[in-house]
Amino acid sequence: MNIERTNIPEHIAIIMDGNGRWAKAQGQNRFFGHRSGVKAVQKIVEESARLGIKNLTLFAFSTENWKRPQTEVNTLMNLLVKSLRKELNQMVQNDIRLNAVGNLSALPEAVQAELNETIEKTKNNSGMTLTLALNYGGKEELTQAFREIAIKVKNNIISPENVDETIINKHLYTRNLPDVDLLIRTSGEQRISNFLLWKIAYAELYFSKVLWPEFDESQLHLAIHNYQKRERRFGKTSEQLKA
Ligand code: IPE
Ligand code: IPE
Ligand code: MG
Repeated sequence: MNIERTNIPEHIAIIMDGNGRWAKAQGQNRFFGHRSGVKAVQKIVEESARLGIKNLTLFAFSTENWKRPQTEVNTLMNLLVKSLRKELNQMVQNDIRLNAVGNLSALPEAVQAELNETIEKTKNNSGMTLTLALNYGGKEELTQAFREIAIKVKNNIISPENVDETIINKHLYTRNLPDVDLLIRTSGEQRISNFLLWKIAYAELYFSKVLWPEFDESQLHLAIHNYQKRERRFGKTSEQLKA
């Protein structure tokens, strides 16, 4: 698949879905699916960095995922700690900076510690920012932002008439990230599942039928190729864009 080097999305976000169904199809348990999902993450992270994508944001654990069986939640948290430890060298070599968004203080201590350490050790890298959305919910992100703003208004730090999109953005977990250009969801589901509500306002959506453990470099190329064929009008007419 030919990708134009001049029109690479600056920010790709991915809802990595289908680990469980993939495992089931192999006659394996969900744990096996998540472990295979981690391998897909490694491939996609490396390929994204190689393609020159500046921001890759991955939905790893949602605020709703706590509702899963406790054993699965534990599995996911353990896998996260292990993968961070294992991938650190790779991130350093590929000039990748790690970032995390979500209600991080509610994550298990071990996860927070490993995250902080990896973020610290990769903070001077400038090739690609890899953001993990962990205990992340779009509504929760907006709610905490509005709460913080309300407190500042009450304390006369912000005046109500100055609350605008810039101020709201500054209070988001994702404040340092640009808007999402391309949002990919795997596994055939066509929903947002409470991911990045603010930053996807004008994202191009791409739904792939491929289950996450099988989403590889060629699938990523396909998604970017598809994105590159679209005309992003941002409210304007096609004629205006061509003028
Ligand atoms: C995505 O795969 C991984 C996470 C949500 C953490 P799923 O575990 O949701 O897989 P399915 O949807 O059950 O196939
Ligand atoms: C979304 O996947 C969350 C992550 C990929 C981490 P889910 O599998 O949890 O989404 P729903 O519940 O099917 O919408
Ligand atoms: Mg799922």
